[in-house]
Amino acid sequence: MALFQIIVGSMMGGSEYVAEACEEVIIAKGHQAKLNFQPIFSDLIEQKTEKDQIWLIVTSTHGAGDYPDNIQNFVTDLRSYDQDLSPINFLTIGLGDSNYDTFCYAAKNIMNLLISKGCTNKKDIFTIDMSLDIDPEALAQTWITQVIDHL
Ligand SMILES: Cc1cc2nc3c(=O)[nH]c(=O)nc-3n(C[C@H](O)[C@H](O)[C@H](O)COP(=O)(O)O)c2cc1C
Repeated sequence: MALFQIIVGSMMGGSEYVAEACEEVIIAKGHQAKLNFQPIFSDLIEQKTEKDQIWLIVTSTHGAGDYPDNIQNFVTDLRSYDQDLSPINFLTIGLGDSNYDTFCYAAKNIMNLLISKGCTNKKDIFTIDMSLDIDPEALAQTWITQVIDHL
């Protein structure tokens, strides 16, 4: 059984709904899940070796490719962290709008940042285009189900 630390970046709540939909699947599959709507990097790092953990990043993009306000500090702390992060496995779901050139940049950038810090990406990023996709929660649930089944 793994513990999924769900790290949510959201301005208007869309990513929160997607994160909660993923939480349902994770628990139904017999794992543990913890939602972090105001993620604090040092808290998550403290627990990183406690048990089999997967960080599930669920974030939208705002501004012109920027991170949502609530994860700015998390990203700043991650960027400046200089110790070994190789025990951390992670997954990324990005919410965005393909009318922007910077489609899902926040999710893509945090994925690349985690990789650059030595974390293991368990599956390629899943992006949800909010200008097209009518049921983002269902899409995310289908994806996370498949990912968990192949972990
Ligand atoms: C002011 C503003 C700027 C945005 N900028 C981007 C962007 O650069 N890239 C992108 O893919 N989506 C962008 N979006 C779309 C949001 O990421 C999308 O609406 C998302 O569903 C919001 O999720 P949230 O409710 O969790 O914040 C932007 C939306 C707004 C309102």
